[in-house]
Amino acid sequence: MKEKTLAILKPDCVQKNYIGKVISHLLKAGFNIIGMKMLKLNKETAGEFYAVHKDKPFYSNLVEFMTENRVVVLALEKENAVEYLRKVIGATDPAEAEPETIRKLYAESKERNIIHASDSLDNAKIELGFFFSNRELIENR
Ligand code: CMP
Repeated sequence: MKEKTLAILKPDCVQKNYIGKVISHLLKAGFNIIGMKMLKLNKETAGEFYAVHKDKPFYSNLVEFMTENRVVVLALEKENAVEYLRKVIGATDPAEAEPETIRKLYAESKERNIIHASDSLDNAKIELGFFFSNRELIENR
C-alpha cells in the first residue's frame, strides 16, 4: 500500500549545499515528492516538533541545531514509504549507517545527520500535519 511520510533536510544539509544530492537520492530510490517547502524554524517550532525528546540530554542542542539555518521539509509517497525511507537514510549515527545510505554518504555525526524521517506511520501522519495542510499535498491518483 502507498504510504506518505515526512523528511526534513536539516540545517547542515542546506549549509553544505547537499539539498540537490539528497533529493536526487530520494527520487532515485523511488519516492514521489508530494509536498516541499523551505523554512527557517524558530526555537518554539523546532522544540514542539521534537517534543518527544524534551527530556533527553541532547534536546537543547538539537533545537539549537535545527534553528541554525533553513530546512527543507518534504512530503514523500511510495509503497511502504515509512520503513523504506528509514532504510534509505541509514542509522542515526553515520558511523553505524549502511554503505550508500544518505547519512553514510553525507552526514558528519549523529547530532548533525543531514536528514530526519518519521519513524512510524502514526508519527508520519502527525509530522506531515505539523508542516502541511491536506490542500498542500499533491494527490497522484
Ligand atoms: P532525528 O531522526 O531527527 O530524530 C531525533 C534527533 O536527535 C536525531 O535524528 C539526531 O539527529 C538527534 N540526536 C542528537 N544527539 C543524539 C543522541 N545522542 N542520540 C540520538 N539522537 C540524537
